[in-house]
Amino acid sequence: MDWGMRNRMARIIKPSTGRTVMLAVDHGYFLGPTTGLENVGRAVKDLLPYADALALTRGILRHDINPHIDTPIILRISGGTSILSEELLNEGITTSMKEAIRLNVSGVAFSITVGAKWERNTILGLSQVVDEAEEHGIPTLAVIAVGKDMVRDARYLSLAGRIAAEHGARIVKTYYCEPGFDKVIDTCPVPVVIAGGKKIPEKEALEMAYKALQAGAVGVDMGRNIFQSEHPVAMIKAIKEVVHNNATAKEAYEFFESESKEKKVKA
Ligand code: 5RP
Repeated sequence: MDWGMRNRMARIIKPSTGRTVMLAVDHGYFLGPTTGLENVGRAVKDLLPYADALALTRGILRHDINPHIDTPIILRISGGTSILSEELLNEGITTSMKEAIRLNVSGVAFSITVGAKWERNTILGLSQVVDEAEEHGIPTLAVIAVGKDMVRDARYLSLAGRIAAEHGARIVKTYYCEPGFDKVIDTCPVPVVIAGGKKIPEKEALEMAYKALQAGAVGVDMGRNIFQSEHPVAMIKAIKEVVHNNATAKEAYEFFESESKEKKVKA
C-alpha cells in the first residue's frame, strides 16, 4: 500500500487501537433535513471532538464545518435519488474525485444496492470510484444494505460485503445482524464498520456496538443513535468507550448514564 493510502487509512482507523468511531451525518442527501440534522453545524459542534472521522456530503462540509478542524472527512459521493423515489438508492457518482481532493478528504463513500433491479449500475459505479480514488491514494468506503425493505441477514450481508470488497472497497459499512455477524466479518477481507440504523434505546445501541466489535468489526459509522439521542455527547463518548477502551456494553451504559446525569446537573 502506498504512503498516501496508508496515511489516510490510519487517519480513519486509529493505529493505537485498530478501531474507529465515525460520526455519520450524511443522511440529508436522500432524506432531506432528517430529525436531529435540521442544522448539521449545530448538531455536530459538540460531537466533533469525540469523532475519529466525519461522514457527510460536500454541501454540508462547505457550509457547516469549520475548515480548521483536524477530523478526517469521509465524503459521500453517491446519490441521485430521494426517499420519495421508488428507485431509492439507484445511485450514481455525485461528486468528482477532483472535488474530493480539493476538499482534502481522507476517504470517499459510495453505496451499492446488491439485489436491487439496478445493482449493476451501483456496482459498476463503485468500481469506477475505486479506480479514480486509488489513483490518488484515497480509500473507498462501500456502504451496503442501506435502504427500505432490505433483508439484513448474515447471508445477504456476507454476499453484499464480499462483493464490495472484491470490487476494491477498502472499508465496508454494513448493519449488524444476529445470528451470524461473525460470518459477515470472516468472509469480508477488508475492515468492517457498522451503521447504527434507526434510533433505538441507548442501552441497546451500545450492546449492538459491543457485539459487533466482539465479532470483529473495527468500529462504527453511526448517526441517528448518536445525534438523535437526548444526550448525544454522552452517547458518542459511551460508544468510544466500547470501541477504543474495550468497555463492555454494561460498563458503557453506566458511563452513558453518569455522563448524561452530569450534563443535567450542570444545566
Ligand atoms: C446513509 C448512511 C448513513 O451514514 C448510515 O446509515 C449511518 O447512519 P445511521 O447510524 O443513522 O444508520 O449511509 O446512506
